[in-house]
Amino acid sequence: MNILDCDFLIIGSGLAGLSAAHYLAPHGKVVVVTKRETQDCNTNFAQGGISCVTLADDSFEKHIADTLDAGAGLCNIEAVRAIVEDGPARMDDLRNMGLQFDQTADGTPDLGREGGHTMRRILHAGDITGRNIEKTLIQATGHQPNIRILQYTHAIDLVTTKSSDGRPSCIGVYLLNTKTGEISAARARNIILATGGAGKVYRYTCNPDVATAGGVAMAWRAGADIENMEFFQFHPTCLYHPAAKNFLISEAVRGEGAELVDANGVPFMARYDRRGSLAPRDIVARAIDHEMKTRGLPCMYLDIRSKGKEFLTKRFPNIYRECLRFGIDMATDLIPIVPAAHYCCGGVKASVDGRTNIEGLFAIGEVACTGLHGANRLASNSLLEAIVCAHKCAEWIAANPREFPTATIPDWIYGDAVPSDELVIVRHNWDEVRTCMWDYVGIVRTNHRLERALHRIENLRHEIRQYYFDYSVTSEVLELRNIADTAYLIIKSALQRKESRGLHYTLDYPNRLEKTTDTILSGYVLP
Ligand code: SIN
Repeated sequence: MNILDCDFLIIGSGLAGLSAAHYLAPHGKVVVVTKRETQDCNTNFAQGGISCVTLADDSFEKHIADTLDAGAGLCNIEAVRAIVEDGPARMDDLRNMGLQFDQTADGTPDLGREGGHTMRRILHAGDITGRNIEKTLIQATGHQPNIRILQYTHAIDLVTTKSSDGRPSCIGVYLLNTKTGEISAARARNIILATGGAGKVYRYTCNPDVATAGGVAMAWRAGADIENMEFFQFHPTCLYHPAAKNFLISEAVRGEGAELVDANGVPFMARYDRRGSLAPRDIVARAIDHEMKTRGLPCMYLDIRSKGKEFLTKRFPNIYRECLRFGIDMATDLIPIVPAAHYCCGGVKASVDGRTNIEGLFAIGEVACTGLHGANRLASNSLLEAIVCAHKCAEWIAANPREFPTATIPDWIYGDAVPSDELVIVRHNWDEVRTCMWDYVGIVRTNHRLERALHRIENLRHEIRQYYFDYSVTSEVLELRNIADTAYLIIKSALQRKESRGLHYTLDYPNRLEKTTDTILSGYVLP
């Protein structure tokens, strides 16, 4: 089996992964592996922007207060402060790499506003901020001789040994070349998970197809602690149209005055929260869900007609164009929307510099749970976290060099696995996991539904494990195994929380407890 040695192995090529590569390149050889093409990541789809204290009327204290308020009592205040305060320096890094944030006519930053923010503080590059960031990083990392990016390279599982203090120690990862089917491995001094999100665990999501929770699932199978997985954020306004797969109507649209309304144009959010359509996402998504379920409607609507075509085509050119493609003119029509799975606030328990309970293994970006988001992420804090934690992780690694592992990676055992002629099973199980999660582990939960979901998912995991051993490994099967394991972690965490808080709302415990703790699921032990 081929083994590729490097200093730093990064799994994932979004903002967290590529900026970690950028910051680590001066310290050694970096290899980035990504399962499709480099730009296939959640970052590329981020519309709103990056929240960052920029102008004099804003302050770190205000940004911290808004983050804590959205986080519903579960944020780690030190992590929040460290990330918020490092924002301006990291935005300068992005500008130095060539990113241009929008400016007003007088040259000051044009700041957007989103739910839960008491100020305008969202730096944005048009209404395709993520795509512009990704492009900037691909260019910046492309020039660096110390960085190698391997596309179509799917991480299968982390390889661990035992460290001197008995805890697991990560030395590398098995890799599948998705073009040739060949399995190889990579070995490194440090392994950094930057695998992004998990939206594909749910049937309806605004995430791209690559968001299949690989990082959380691999880390858990390797023995990492996983934190707060019950807090899955549903974005309130995904476009509802039979031909639109996963198109988001950015919260920035509400920031510019859009109201949530019913089919007759009557606003309803004031009945749920004094902040109306700009309340934090957990509240807005739940309100929409409630309106749809009680009135038996397939969707609700956004109304931004008052802003007129000139403003909308300038501020939201991409959203305007996309809506028009589906026959909706934002300037004259209501926009049909539904909530959809958007962001996993839980993840691999990590410090702000990415350290996990596994030696040599780091987690940054959406795959990590640093305590920034608590029980509900404040809009546009995720891109901020991704770049700040990538920088802090690189600084920590540079200051604490780890010896290159001496242990070898055992050859991959193919056993009796054969190519599958039963792909229908994989497709069926994909649908079953995602439908089960949507129906039983969605915006509003009950013990009964969670128990049912657990039973179903445990059976599916059993079946998938057998399939995984019997047939040759493919991307589809790896992703299926990962979404099923992550579904299990979400359900287990949800069952442990005996209250409603932030994104976790259950009819069995509708109130918030006075005292609470994070939900931790300890690393997986092979049965
Ligand atoms: C959006 O543009 O609404 C998404 C921003 C975010 O999720 O932070």
